[in-house]
Amino acid sequence: MVEKQIMNPEHSYEPQFISISLIVNGKEQHIQAEATKRLVDILREDFALTGTKISCEIGRCGACSVLMEGKLVNACLVRAYQLEGKEIQTIEGLGQHGLHPIQEAFLKEGGFQCGYCTPGMIMAVKALLDENPFPNDEQILESLSGNLCRCTGYSGIIRSIQKLIPSNRE
Ligand code: FES
Ligand code: FES
Repeated sequence: MVEKQIMNPEHSYEPQFISISLIVNGKEQHIQAEATKRLVDILREDFALTGTKISCEIGRCGACSVLMEGKLVNACLVRAYQLEGKEIQTIEGLGQHGLHPIQEAFLKEGGFQCGYCTPGMIMAVKALLDENPFPNDEQILESLSGNLCRCTGYSGIIRSIQKLIPSNRE
């Protein structure tokens, strides 16, 4: 028997818009957004910060990695209603005054791979080195565990990070 679906108006979805003030790459911003809009969409659509990529959309690949209050988050899992007063840093925020040392190290050591995984990898490295400027190999691997590359490898990236450790600099 085919059941007739009756739409209960009490259960119908009505988008709820909220006002949010946040800081993106050092600049205070005010937006109106649907309460459940994802941070990754806000960055890309409301602020044209397309360096943050969308890939798996379920928090598995790290392509959408950004810093929120200095901590690494997957922007596909953070919603607008969680953003009030928060400070967000994206890959664009790193290169505001010329290349960031992490970007330079990636360039020099072949850590730059495709445009999908690299921005997220760099944000993960930033989070790692902000917290621990002298990571050992195990800590480096652990820090990249949420950032997937499905096509090349991690040796150039690991070399780049090792070059950023103060005692390894030339
Ligand atoms: S797109 Fe967010 S973790 Fe993959
Ligand atoms: S996913 Fe970017 S190089 Fe593999």
